Amino acid sequence: MSAAMIDGKAFAGALREKIAREVAELKAAHGLVPGLAVVLVGQDPASEVYVRSKGTQTRAAGMASFGHRLPETASQAELVALIERLNADPAVHGILVQLPLPGHMDAAAVIDAIAPAKDVDGFHISNVGLLGTGQKAMVPCTPLGCLMLLRDRHGSLSGLNAVVVGRSNIVGKPMAQLLLAEDCTVTIAHSRTKDLADLCRRADILIAAVGRPGMVKRDWIKPGATVIDVGINHVERDGNFRLVGDVDAAAAEVAGALTPVPGGVGPMTIACLLANTLTACRRAHGLA
Ligand code: GUN
Repeated sequence: MSAAMIDGKAFAGALREKIAREVAELKAAHGLVPGLAVVLVGQDPASEVYVRSKGTQTRAAGMASFGHRLPETASQAELVALIERLNADPAVHGILVQLPLPGHMDAAAVIDAIAPAKDVDGFHISNVGLLGTGQKAMVPCTPLGCLMLLRDRHGSLSGLNAVVVGRSNIVGKPMAQLLLAEDCTVTIAHSRTKDLADLCRRADILIAAVGRPGMVKRDWIKPGATVIDVGINHVERDGNFRLVGDVDAAAAEVAGALTPVPGGVGPMTIACLLANTLTACRRAHGLA
């Protein structure tokens, strides 16, 4: 058997088109233009690429994009002052502070300076609490994108065994909360988990979000399982860099469905950022 490839690129493209149509309708009906502010501190090359792509896709959806850059040497107080200005700006509905931040900053304190209603990353402690208690929250973009792909494939996820490998605040923990809210039986595994391969073999849905190239092997997969590979690892081979996931390519021989890397989960993240910005704009004006 060979796994069906879950085409996240096509799904994200269709989602962006739907968002662009809804943005145009919002503008026509209410004169509103959703606005997203992205703040980049320093010059991390990977962050530069992500931030540029976020700006381009925001504008392509018909939204306003506000880019803000601070030098690596900026103080935390300067960054928080910028966030407070954006919190108070009615043209800004979503605020994203690109991570990682320079080592002298306390990322948790910076994130908690963002107004929860504008926290389109869903990282603010209020949104984390709302998600964990099943209330209306801003949901982190990558797990939200994974959930959309899973719902598209399965319809109902109720009663399925889900194993999330990785316990980050950005992916693993919110992913587990979302799957729990879908009535999955959820296990969170991590680098200290015993018998990880055995645990994974029980998963109907396996989410790999560890950041280790090819760690999840073919024989860790339950035949027919749906495998979501969140890994984005740059590996060098023969002097060339290529992008690989956390799941070994041979897993496709056993899984029922698999997200490729690239072209699986990756494109969903920015599409969900746009969806969250549109939601934030609607909520700010009592339209959602
Ligand atoms: N850095 C890597 N992924 C993310 C993300 O989803 N949001 C932010 N703000 N920074 C990131």
